[in-house]
Parts: sequence; C-alpha cells; structure tokens
Amino acid sequence: MLGSMPLPHRSPLVLGIESSCDDTACAVLDGAGRVLASVVSSQLEAHRPFGGVVPEIASREHLRNWPSVSAEALELAGVGLADIQVLSATRGPGLIGCLLVGLSLGRSIAWARGLPFHAVHHLEGHLYSPFLDSEGGPAMPVPESFHGLVVSGGHTALYRVEQGATITLAETRDDAMGEVFDKIGKRLGLPYPQGPIVDELAERGDPSAFRLSIARCSDGSNDFSYSGLKSQTLLEIEKLEAAGVATDLSVETAQPVLDLIAGFRAAAAGQVLDRLDRLRRGGEHIDLLAVSGGAAANRLLRRELATWAAEHRIDLRLVPLRYAGDNAAMIAHTALVRERQGRRDDPLEVDAASRIPL
Ligand code: KG4
Ligand code: ZN
Repeated sequence: MLGSMPLPHRSPLVLGIESSCDDTACAVLDGAGRVLASVVSSQLEAHRPFGGVVPEIASREHLRNWPSVSAEALELAGVGLADIQVLSATRGPGLIGCLLVGLSLGRSIAWARGLPFHAVHHLEGHLYSPFLDSEGGPAMPVPESFHGLVVSGGHTALYRVEQGATITLAETRDDAMGEVFDKIGKRLGLPYPQGPIVDELAERGDPSAFRLSIARCSDGSNDFSYSGLKSQTLLEIEKLEAAGVATDLSVETAQPVLDLIAGFRAAAAGQVLDRLDRLRRGGEHIDLLAVSGGAAANRLLRRELATWAAEHRIDLRLVPLRYAGDNAAMIAHTALVRERQGRRDDPLEVDAASRIPL
C-alpha cells in the first residue's frame, strides 16, 4: 500500500516563470526537484501568419496567457499560491518585452509575499535541465563538475561546469543550430517552428545523396558556425528548383528534397560531434555530458550522441523531451540549485536583460 501513496512534498515549493520568447510557462517543483506541474502555453497560432515570432505580439500574449497558465500549474500541483515558498523567473537572454512580463510578475509576487527570489539565466536553466526526471521523480543532484551542450533556437554552446563555475568552451558565431533548421524549413514552405518538421522529414531522406561540409572556424577555435551550411543548403535548393524539382514541402515531398534535408541534418549534427571530438583530442576530459535545448530533441543528434558517448565511455544525459524546449520547470529547478548555493536576488533590484553572458 505504501508504494501507491502520494509522496509528501519536500520543502521548499518553488514556482518558476519563463517568458523569454514565445512560450508562456509556469511550473511548480518541490524541494527534491520533483516537477509537480509544468505548463507551457505556446503562442504558435498568434505568430504563424508572420512565419516567425513577432516580439510585440509575444509580449502581449504573455500578459494575456499568464492568469490561465499560472492557475493551471497551481491546480495541477494541487497547491495554492500561499503554499509557494520560493519564486523564480527568467531574467534573460531573450526578447526584452517578453522577459519584462515574466520577470515583473515574479518580482512582484516575491516582493508582496516576502519570498526568496531568483532571476534565472535562461541558459543556466537549459544547462541543468537534463537532470530533471521525466516521470515526476526527484531530480538527480546536479554534479559539481560536468560538461554541458546547449542547442536551441538562439544558442549552440559547449560548457565546462567546474565547482559551480561555468566556463564557455565553444559558442555560436552566427546562426544557432535550431535557427538554421527553422530557416531552411521556412525556405521549403514549412510553418514555424520548422525545426521539428525538418527533422521528421529528414528521416525519409538519404543523407549521402548530398555532400554538405562541416564548417570549421578559420582561426582554429572550436566555435560553432552554421551560416555556411545554411548558404550551401539554400544553393542546393535553388539548383533543385532550376532542375524542375518541386521544393515546397507543404505541398509535396519530392525525394531529392528529402535527401537534401537529410544531408543538411547530418552536417548540422556532424558539426556538434566534430567539436566534441576536437575538444577531447585537445585534452578536454569529458566524463559526463548533459545535452539540452530545443534542438536537443533532434532525432539524429540524439542517436549520434548516444553512439559517440558509448564509444568513449562518457556518461550521457539527454534532456527528457518534455523539458527540451523552453519551459518553466528548468527555471524553478535552477532556482533550487541556486538556493543550495546560497545565491539569491533582490526582487526590487534585478532587471531583465536581452543579452547577458552566462
Ligand atoms: O530551447 P528552445 O525551445 O528555444 C530557445 O531557447 O531557442 O529551442 C527552440 C528551437 C527552434 O529553433 C526549433 O526549431 C528547434 O529548437 N527544434 C529543433 C527540433 N525541435 C525543436 N531543431 C531540430 N530538430 C528538432 N527535432
Ligand atoms: Zn531556450
């Protein structure tokens, strides 16, 4: 009987708010990092006619969605606002008008109720998200030292976390990985966000039909660069069109186009593996790699990382799919990590920032 009884919540109950881009999200976690509720309200319909996120519309949608999103999260968690003991919200980076909505809400509630407050860096949220449990169990303790790969719509970055400090080993020089998936998909007539659709369609293509190269930075750094791959792929699309191939994937799925996006995806994932290999060969000792961000949902990337990690006996933690894209569970989770580290913010002092280093 004991096994079927609900576990008591561990203190403190943390409420997380995420509003850095086009998702309005609210989550409740207990002190053990169990996700009691994680609600994400997508604004896809509001932005779809424009083919991408319109910042002004996104801010207004956050304001409109917040009452129902927060009410749903509290109800799912089975708690009231009065039970919440710690408040957290994303501080940046992101769209400034969007960040201001969520951060101001968090600051106000924390100030009014006299609660500890955490203004969380969005990337720190992603970085620790692979340690969340997808089945609602306690989060795995975030190790003092590990390596993190964040692949999203705005960032492609490799980090070394050492005794709580985060060192950037490689980062985006131009387009982020998710962003090029979106841009290529948009050129092929797909609706926003194109990344997951391009990934799914690429499963049906032959990646060896097109040889797309893996870009390296000319200065020898391990930074990521996807704009060359984007240009190469766009050029191949033009060549297919000149040869009379239909390239609008929303109308038909011609095999040469599926082959091209399979080749594109292979080169995109290949660049990540290339950077990891180069780092290892350069003497970087990787024991545990935690992979996060929206593009960490990419099927090929997940498969290739699993093979690579097994080959090199590296402990791989891929973010659970439900916490790959933007969500507030990762924000509340980071607040818990910060609580343990004794890092807190003054709700009357912190401000949102569209660009902030990790
Ligand atoms: O982390 P996220 O939700 O937002 C940012 O912080 O950017 O990531 C969203 C990005 C979008 O560019 C989306 O197209 C991409 O992640 N994405 C994917 C896949 N699923 C989402 N990209 C490639 N393959 C996927 N399966
Ligand atoms: Zn994100």
